[in-house]
Amino acid sequence: MSPVATEISIDGRGLSDRLAALASIGEIEGTDGACRLALTDEDRDGRDLVVAWMRDLGLEVSIDGIGNVIGALAGAEPGPPVMCGSHIDTVRTGGRYDGNLGVLAGLQVIEAVQQAGITTRRPLAVGFFTDEEGARFPPDMLGSLVYTGELPLEEALDVVGADGAVLGAELDRIGYRGPAPCPSPPPHAFVELHIEQGPILDAEDIVIGAVTGVQGISWTEITVAGQSNHAGTTPMDMRHDAGWAATRIAVFVHELAAEFGPPQVCTVGRVELHPNLVNVVASDAVITVDMRNTDDHLLTEAEERLAAFLEELAAESGTGISSRRLARFAPVEFAPEMIDRVERAAGALGLSHRRLCSGAGHDAQMFAPVCPTSMIFVPSWQGISHNPFEHTEPDHLEAGANVLLRVMLELAEIAEASEVEKAGATT
Ligand code: GLV
Ligand code: MN
Ligand code: MN
Repeated sequence: MSPVATEISIDGRGLSDRLAALASIGEIEGTDGACRLALTDEDRDGRDLVVAWMRDLGLEVSIDGIGNVIGALAGAEPGPPVMCGSHIDTVRTGGRYDGNLGVLAGLQVIEAVQQAGITTRRPLAVGFFTDEEGARFPPDMLGSLVYTGELPLEEALDVVGADGAVLGAELDRIGYRGPAPCPSPPPHAFVELHIEQGPILDAEDIVIGAVTGVQGISWTEITVAGQSNHAGTTPMDMRHDAGWAATRIAVFVHELAAEFGPPQVCTVGRVELHPNLVNVVASDAVITVDMRNTDDHLLTEAEERLAAFLEELAAESGTGISSRRLARFAPVEFAPEMIDRVERAAGALGLSHRRLCSGAGHDAQMFAPVCPTSMIFVPSWQGISHNPFEHTEPDHLEAGANVLLRVMLELAEIAEASEVEKAGATT
């Protein structure tokens, strides 16, 4: 790597300040966290702030038809950029680092490059992608799915959220349906810095994770239709109890994960009962099941076992049970040379590092099929995430951002003075 590149570094204080400013939008009182569910007013306000920062840095900002926002810095040569980015939407109980780190570190990378007065041969870009969490509008990684052409735009705009809102209408309401085309041409390469959101780096006291890939994800929404009735008078064998069925499903998937063993994980994250009253047998239940595994065959087997169980349960409980798939992503492996780049950069900076697979879903997994892609992880305190008490040490944030900077500079290449002059003469 050029000697110039090794001298540049990130302003860690600036990164922490930006993270704090963004977390103040949708702040969850008494915590460091925030609630900015996709396409809500809080998401819009967060977007406005980050776009203002992009414009302050002089980036060319483009917004596409699903609301993905990309800020680009021209290089000495035209062509696809070396892109980094992540998301700024959160789950309802969001921390301040999940997603936000990858976007705001990208701004710090651009700022560091500008302050060093260097020009890269390839353009640099930083993006944030709509609705990565999928907590409001399934599936997760929706914006990057549309960006890379895996999900048709029209289909995405029609998605109905958990609160009944329609995605396209909400996008219009917050003013973030833009003219840039999607799918968009793939970048030269994509790199995402993210907190680990799991316990490995923290437990092993390692600063940098070179991410090898992302495990497979399967989300299912299950609807149980029973009959509401009096809790005191209805004999147990005459019930059509949606509440009981819902709890059976939760127990089943928990036991299934135990039977399969790690890395299989299963979660019931949402349970809604109707009419949800102490003395009424529930007539209806809606529950979600999130299942993940690094082995796609095992994940498929888990899905089949759940489907078979639901059939038995419907008969046993005298209810009608239907289900729909909210998300399904096969496991993803990142390009070996991109994983190597992350390791090399961490090593050159004297940072401890190890390889690991991501348990969480990320925008980077959508880029992996269309361009060389990698991810950089930094530790999550006690592995806590999707929780307002999510925390990463400022030194680790800065270290991760410096690795991002080095990897991006290596990919974008610093232009010779003559190339910069030539580009200046022709533009
Ligand atoms: C995204 O945060 C996920 O659910 O993994
Ligand atoms: Mn995330
Ligand atoms: Mn998340």
